[in-house]
Amino acid sequence: MCGIIAYIGNKECKNILIEGLKRLEYRGYDSAGIGILYTGKGGTKGGVNTDNEIYHIAVVKNAGKIRALENELRSVEVDGFCGIGHTRWATHGEPTKVNAHPHLDCSSKIAVVHNGIIENYAEIREELRAKGHKFVSQTDTEVLPHLLEEYYNGDLLIAMQKLMKRIKGSGAIVAISTYNPDEIIGARIASPLVIGVSRNGNFLASDMPAALEHTRNFIVINDYETARVTRSGVEIFDHEGKIIDREPFKVSWSIASAEKAGYEDFMLKEIFEQPYGIKETMRGRVVNGKLNFNELGLSEKQIRDLKRVQIIACGTSYHAALIGRQLIERWAKIPVEVDVSSEYRYRDPIVEDNCLFIAITQSGETIDTLAAIREAKAKGARIVSITNVVGSTVARESDSVIYTHAGPEIGVCATKTFTAQVIVMYLMALYFGMIRGYISGDGYKSIVQELEFVPNKVQNILNRADEIKSIADRTYKYTCFLFLGRLYGLPVALEGALKLKEISYIHAEGYAAGEMKHGPIALTDRQTVVVAITPKDSVYEKMLSNVQEVKARKATVFTLATEGDTSIQKYADYVFYLPKTLEELYGILAIIPLQLYAYYIAKNLGRNVDQPRNLAKSVTVE
Ligand code: F6R
Repeated sequence: MCGIIAYIGNKECKNILIEGLKRLEYRGYDSAGIGILYTGKGGTKGGVNTDNEIYHIAVVKNAGKIRALENELRSVEVDGFCGIGHTRWATHGEPTKVNAHPHLDCSSKIAVVHNGIIENYAEIREELRAKGHKFVSQTDTEVLPHLLEEYYNGDLLIAMQKLMKRIKGSGAIVAISTYNPDEIIGARIASPLVIGVSRNGNFLASDMPAALEHTRNFIVINDYETARVTRSGVEIFDHEGKIIDREPFKVSWSIASAEKAGYEDFMLKEIFEQPYGIKETMRGRVVNGKLNFNELGLSEKQIRDLKRVQIIACGTSYHAALIGRQLIERWAKIPVEVDVSSEYRYRDPIVEDNCLFIAITQSGETIDTLAAIREAKAKGARIVSITNVVGSTVARESDSVIYTHAGPEIGVCATKTFTAQVIVMYLMALYFGMIRGYISGDGYKSIVQELEFVPNKVQNILNRADEIKSIADRTYKYTCFLFLGRLYGLPVALEGALKLKEISYIHAEGYAAGEMKHGPIALTDRQTVVVAITPKDSVYEKMLSNVQEVKARKATVFTLATEGDTSIQKYADYVFYLPKTLEELYGILAIIPLQLYAYYIAKNLGRNVDQPRNLAKSVTVE
């Protein structure tokens, strides 16, 4: 939530900041702003500051999306070689121009952008007010530049280090000042912040895609650390102010992967990238028909001794966890519990010996998942995380990390990261099953073989996206959608409903089909679309009965069936055929048409699918 970009170097920064903000807009998009250091003489000297130049900070901001900020910038001529930018997802104070970041101190010499929440801001603000500081916004962030002003004694870094001891809450904080125009100061408590290093200057950003156009070399800042970033160097300090030596790492993501590449929206591009994301996630883990999972860091004995698996996740990642539960229980015969992260941490969970704790999070920054990990760790759990972002906080706080290789996901709605997570769950469950001796050599071989066909089968579905579009074109005006599934179809039904509600704003429920008679069937009438997951699996007959029940109550029925199943046509208004696969693998195929369905319905309704209202890509506040 909220995105930060900052740059200092030998290039003018206005466009760099705006382009960076556009790449971060998925993190928040209710208002945006930039702050640029410029000289009072109305110009800069090739990026070199001389003693007689007087610096000012130009702050330009606006409510709304980056486009609105760009409009505002049209009449602003200043530019400079050091600046900060921010795109906001409001927590304290409405999304207005005055509440947008950057915020300034009383003398407009210090400008700050911030991602997070200052929990004790009210108390700090009163204290600062009593000392004469003037506040103009309703935000918690505004206390930060005033605190820096109060603490400043010749070095903004020292002031920031004092500030870090005074505030409670979470935050990635980035500040510039006219006192020293040759540096940007960054600090972090529980909100992501990375440094991008390049020959033409250095960056601070909430997320790597913001600076990917300029560099692939990044350094992560950890909690309670501060950093001084200049045009030619980077210094990082620990919570006691001692300098830390940390080398940059290189990411393989390309700038093209963070662009739309001719697609209308990131979401559509990311849906179509799934065969690649699945293949990449399998690469190196399935070699010559054999599974390799050394990265788990578990010995075969440890896997054999496992008594329980606990998985935690939120939202879409939680649905991947539900699929993981079914697979691990079926193939590896280990009891699995799945919890929503925000519930797990508050229920005083029991962590026993020989329990493996798995956290699933595409961003690696979800605050609830982090808090649940910390809770489990404090109780002695060993943490394996599954994430898409190298160097993310969850990755760093886990004992081992399984990276999904879906590439950067910019659309707020998770699509390709979900199927990559599901693939990891398939591989892990199978690996555990093989080591624990519950899967025979032949069984194992045929599952691996089927897994290797998944990218092609997903491609086959994507090639028929038009069929889904035409169903969406005919059903988008309905106001109630029920997604029904059983067994492997249930997590898919939940995920299908989540996709639809989050990007179309239509009320949609995912439900266990067997639960219909216990309540939800009362909702069913002519205004209802029932989306039923009905592959030819062991619960097919039961699903068929549920389909007939809703059809008898005049619902419009759209089913996902296995190719060749013509008999289902008499119960359904629309049928989309899935390629044949093993019953355990239908989930990863069935979600693809549902992602497309949600997408086309939302487009019919004129929604912004990449940036749905009220949502942000990484949920870094509780
Ligand atoms: C839905 C969606 C969210 C996320 C959830 C968890 O499309 O994107 O429900 O799945 O916020 O995020 P991560 O996986 O980053 O922990």
